[in-house]
Formats: sequence, structure tokens, C-alpha cells
Amino acid sequence: MKEGDSVLINGASGAVGSMAVMITKHFGAIVTGVCSTSNISNVANLGANRVIDYKEEDFTKEINKYDIIFDAVGKSSYKSVKESLNETGIYLTTVPILGVMIQVLTKKKLNKRRASFIAAGLREPNVKIEDLIYLEKLVISVELKPLYGKSHNLGNVTIRVFE
Ligand SMILES: NC(=O)c1ccc[n+]([C@@H]2O[C@H](COP(=O)([O-])OP(=O)(O)OC[C@H]3O[C@@H](n4cnc5c(N)ncnc54)[C@H](OP(=O)(O)O)[C@@H]3O)[C@@H](O)[C@H]2O)c1
Repeated sequence: MKEGDSVLINGASGAVGSMAVMITKHFGAIVTGVCSTSNISNVANLGANRVIDYKEEDFTKEINKYDIIFDAVGKSSYKSVKESLNETGIYLTTVPILGVMIQVLTKKKLNKRRASFIAAGLREPNVKIEDLIYLEKLVISVELKPLYGKSHNLGNVTIRVFE
């Protein structure tokens, strides 16, 4: 991702999506978050430049707009979003449905647009550790903070539950 890239995050109010909004903002992206009506203010507060309510508006109708579409909730398909990507745009998803995996394996060679599946657990520890150290700094500086709903006090421990 480059500074100024136009990035859409589908499922921006979720555990993965909310972190993606904050991380892409940190790297200077222009971020559009997609969520339901009740989470619009949460996603805007995370720093999204624009928030789309998927109950009111279908982002896949937007043409040639995004450098990256990250479907953090896995509700779309490469086929449904490819027109919304610009010429060299990349579609990323957390959920490896068959159609996406076929695109990952074939389209890369046929088209400048491409699809990719991200699996946090599949990366080598020595590669992942660098990212985790980087993210730890963002957490300590409170640039990354979890979006959570309720707090529960259990003795000396406070559990914060994501909703
Ligand atoms: N590949 C990997 O390594 C990896 C790692 C972690 C998770 N995952 C997968 O990633 C997915 C998301 O995980 P998560 O923990 O972030 O889930 P989550 O916390 O439940 O978040 C999903 C969010 O998506 C939103 N959403 C629901 N339907 C939507 C729709 N039609 N369009 C747009 N947004 C919608 C919901 O918010 P609203 O109420 O605002 O709709 C919800 O906050 C899961 O399928 C999980 O299995 C994969």
C-alpha cells in the first residue's frame, strides 16, 4: 500500500476490519469503511474518510475507484467487486471461497487487477514477528486501539468484549 491509495474495507466495524481501518490510515490511505447503520459513527471515529452503510448503498456499483478492496468479513467475491477496482487494483479477503482461490491462482497472470487471500496464521514466524513488533508500537502509542462494546470485571481482571 502507498500513501494516498484509495482503500475500501468491507466489514470495517468488525475485529479484523476495524484494525484494518486504523492500520491503513496509519500508512496514509484514503479509507472508505463499509458497515451497518448502527456502526457508522464507530467506523468514522476510527478515522475512516468515508463510511458506507451497506444496508443503504452497494459499494460494488462504484466503478474504477479503489486501489485496494479488503473484504475483512468475506461477504463479497472478486467477481462482484472487480469493476470497483482501478486498473491495477487488488482484492483481498480473509475468507477463501473457491471462486476467490481460482482467481488467486489464475487471474494474476491474465489481468493487472488481482485477487489475494490473506491468512494471518500461514506466514512464517520470522516474517510475522517484524510486523508484530511494529504493531506493538502502534498499540503502545494508542494509534491502534480495539473497538469494543462491554467491559466485565472479574475480580482483579477487566475483560473487554468486542461486539
Ligand atoms: N484469514 C485469516 O487469517 C482470518 C483471521 C481472522 C478472521 N478471519 C475471518 O474473517 C471474518 C471476519 O472476522 P472478524 O473476527 O473480524 O468478525 P467480526 O468481528 O464478527 O466482524 C465482522 C463485521 O462485519 C460486519 N458485517 C456483517 N455483514 C456484513 C456485510 N454484509 N457487509 C459488510 N459488513 C458486514 C459486521 O458489522 P455490522 O454489524 O456493522 O454489519 C461485523 O462487525 C470471519 O469470517 C473470520 O473467520 C480470517
